Formats: sequence, C-alpha cells, structure tokens
Amino acid sequence: MDEHIRRRRFCRQSVLLGTGLVLSGAGRTRAVAPGNEPSANGTLETIGRLRTIHGNFTDQAIPESDLQTILDATVRAANASNMQTYSIIVVKDRAKMQAVCGYQASCLLVYCVDHNRLKALAQSLDHPYHPGNMVSFITSGINTILAVQTAAIAARSLGLDYLITNGLHRGDMRRQWGLLDLPEEHCYPLIALLLGYPTQEPAHKKGRLSGAGVIHHEKYQPLTPEQAAEITKQYDDPNSHLALIDNWKDQGHKHYLDWLFTAWLRGSETPTERETQMFTLLKRSGYVEPQAG
Ligand SMILES: Cc1cc2nc3c(=O)[nH]c(=O)nc-3n(C[C@H](O)[C@H](O)[C@H](O)COP(=O)(O)O)c2cc1C
Repeated sequence: MDEHIRRRRFCRQSVLLGTGLVLSGAGRTRAVAPGNEPSANGTLETIGRLRTIHGNFTDQAIPESDLQTILDATVRAANASNMQTYSIIVVKDRAKMQAVCGYQASCLLVYCVDHNRLKALAQSLDHPYHPGNMVSFITSGINTILAVQTAAIAARSLGLDYLITNGLHRGDMRRQWGLLDLPEEHCYPLIALLLGYPTQEPAHKKGRLSGAGVIHHEKYQPLTPEQAAEITKQYDDPNSHLALIDNWKDQGHKHYLDWLFTAWLRGSETPTERETQMFTLLKRSGYVEPQAG
C-alpha cells in the first residue's frame, strides 16, 4: 500500500481512537456502529464485512471450487483433541433445504455433533469408546460451532453470503433424522449454514454491543442501572443498527427492548414447564447421562 494512504488511514484511525468513537474507557457501554470498526488487514476486513442474509437466496449455484474451499476451511477450526466430533451434510436439493431448515440457498451445510465415525474407528480396532455424556456433547457442540463460524468467514472472504440458522430445531425436529438419515445415537443436528447469493442487498449491516455488560475486565461486573439505561438507549438509536426490525415504535413500543421481550420473545416469559422435544431427542441420542435425565 502507498505510504501516503497508509499514513492517512493510520491518522484517521488514531483520531477515531483518540475521540473515543471506536474505543471508550472501561466501564462504559458502547455500540460499534457498522462501518466504524478499525480495519487492519484482510482477515479483519473480512470479519468486519460479516453479515447475515435473512430469507432465501437466489438459485445461482456457487462454484464447486468455492464450496470445496469453504469445506477445507471449516475443518481448520480448533477442535478438542483434534477429534473433529462433528459431521457436515452438504445439501444441494432446494426442496430438501426448505424441509430441513425453512430456507433455500445454493447450498446448505448441516452441522451435526457426531461421534459415530469415532465409534466405528474404535470398534474397528477393538477399543471401548463411550461418548454418551454431556461433556462429550458440550465439547463437540463447541467444535461444531467453531467450524460453522469458520465456514461463514471463508464464504464471506470469497464474496459469498450466508445465513447461519437454527431453523432445523423449529417444528418437529424428528424430521431431521428421516430427511438426512442421521444415526439415532450419538448424532445431533446442531446448526445449519446456507450459502449463496442474496436476492437483494441488505439495507445496512447490524451493529453490536461491546464494552460494559459484554466485555468484563478481570472479573464479572453486573450491569448497573445506569448501564442498563445506556444500553436500552443504544438499542433505541436507529444509527446503531442493533434492532432486528425498524418499525417497533409504530407497533406502540416505547423502547426496542419492549418489542424484543414482548413481541419477538413471546412465549419465553414463563419458565418451561414440560420437557422440550429438543431435550427428549438429546436423551434419545444418548448424550444425557441417565441420572441427569
Ligand atoms: C444460532 C443462530 C441462529 C440464527 N437463526 C436465524 C434464522 O433462523 N433466521 C435468520 O434470518 N437469521 C438467523 N440468525 C442470524 C442472526 O439473526 C444474525 O446473526 C443477527 O441478527 C446479527 O446479524 P448479522 O449476522 O447480520 O450481523 C441466526 C444466528 C445464529 C447464531
């Protein structure tokens, strides 16, 4: 990069930092408005451009070479003991995608926590191997989620768009085992990634909360009433782009968070009384120790 441009970028970032537009003192809540993130290199630039496409994608196919690059990247994510306790099912049939997760794109990757490959390997060598416990499930869940985010970053770096969705947990979850031929035991569909091209450009990129309440220094700091009021204000500020919808005021809400807790999260206001299907299927998959279920 030309030295002149580099210096100007550095000065601009220094000014932003100095005025606290990008970083503010510890203890203050802040929202990072989209576009105000410092960009230092190609990786950070790609991370800065991460965004979700909500809804269906066009039917334009993504190049096979891009898909392979994404699959190569996704398995590079850190994973406990390098055991890669997941399986990724690549789906290109749009009707099947719709049935699996409620969305359609050029390609769907279904990420499952899965110990069946390792079980088969252990069996082939006559070793005992029992992954049926919550520690296995949580650890593998972490492996799986790191893999999906890595794929999303890779996709964005190639100019593709994506949607990470838990749509596969909506409705009757048992359909996943039928649609994808999943093993009943020690396999659990966790998250899905749609890849492709958007039908229209999103109006703006979402902002994020950072600072107090999100980042804690040295020890956990409960939110003070002042910080709660500040965060509520950040959500209300249309320029911070933290809200899922823009017209929450038209729906009679004083604050965006009023809409979030009453309209969007309707049904979460009372504690769960009955066992959820998710938990029933988790027990069926063998990850819940009998004494815990
Ligand atoms: C676990 C998980 C489930 C999600 N499910 C959906 C979904 O079903 N539909 C959707 O449109 N977005 C879904 N999203 C995307 C989020 O809504 C999105 O990441 C968030 O609004 C922030 O927007 P951004 O990714 O564009 O910054 C999901 C994201 C995650 C991590």
